[in-house]
Amino acid sequence: MNSIKNLLSVYDFTKDEIYDILLRSFILKSEGAGGGNGCLKGKKIGLIFEKSSTRTRVSFEVGIVELGGHPIFMSSRDLQLGRGEPVKDTARVLKRYIDGAIVRTFEQERVETFARYFEKPTVNGLTDLYHPSQILTDIYTAYEAKNGSKNNTKKDIGDIVEGLKIVYIGDANNMANSWVNLQAMLGFELVLAMPDGFDIYETVASRSRERGGKFNILHDKISAAEDADVITTDVFISMGQDEEKEKIDKLRPFIVDESVIKSAKKDVVFLHCLPVHRNEEVAEDVFERFSPFVFEEAENRLHVQKAIIETVFRN
Ligand code: CP
Ligand code: NVA
Repeated sequence: MNSIKNLLSVYDFTKDEIYDILLRSFILKSEGAGGGNGCLKGKKIGLIFEKSSTRTRVSFEVGIVELGGHPIFMSSRDLQLGRGEPVKDTARVLKRYIDGAIVRTFEQERVETFARYFEKPTVNGLTDLYHPSQILTDIYTAYEAKNGSKNNTKKDIGDIVEGLKIVYIGDANNMANSWVNLQAMLGFELVLAMPDGFDIYETVASRSRERGGKFNILHDKISAAEDADVITTDVFISMGQDEEKEKIDKLRPFIVDESVIKSAKKDVVFLHCLPVHRNEEVAEDVFERFSPFVFEEAENRLHVQKAIIETVFRN
């Protein structure tokens, strides 16, 4: 059972594996649609989604096809899962039909339970707690933006990534948590800016500390953004959360606007995992100015996830 490789959080990979993935993503991107090691030839991969998705669903489906596999999309609206069939039963049934799974769900515990009973490679396609395939894409996109199109070694990638100051401004959600996880693995400088009273869950923070992770939380977006190489944000209300007016009102001053960009380095890059709420977490003009990076980030989901699939299906 231990030999099964999952990506439930970035902690499932070693630092070395993460740099292998970043290097491999660069190669897969340059090879285009025909690229990849064909590791899914003859394999059926299920996509079990309990929340909506555009990018994650389509980029994984396309990546699976490009690696020789056959994706099977299953929305919980259609599965018995949506009518209360336990995750552990769904997993024990699906393992008899399919060879791997991408799961998008609510509590992190649900994807962990799925993986435990499925006993085959499982990739977290977003939970309330983490979004690992997105965060690996984001760091790849940051590296790419800072590196141009040079063909680097793993060491070069490490030098670029570990020299970055990354600033996340906004809600303490699955993207913020994923930045905390990744910082603990790779050691770049991470500053989070969020309203007073907002904080990273203690379990997320302590897992980071156990690995020597370090991050600062500031309540002033301008000081947080000072000399930043990368500024990033995410929606104020995530899928599955209630639209609370009080929460949005507290977050409103944390909009990424021109004042934030001015505080950062001249060659700062703005990233957003999408979908975006214009003039809520980011000002429309800032979003549109940086949109070439943001849509490159969306494209990179495909290349990075192919590298992730090659890694989890290595054995
Ligand atoms: N960024 C992201 O995960 O997008 P989707 O919700 O469209 O998959
Ligand atoms: N935090 C957002 C990310 C969407 C990709 C959510 O969970 O809805």
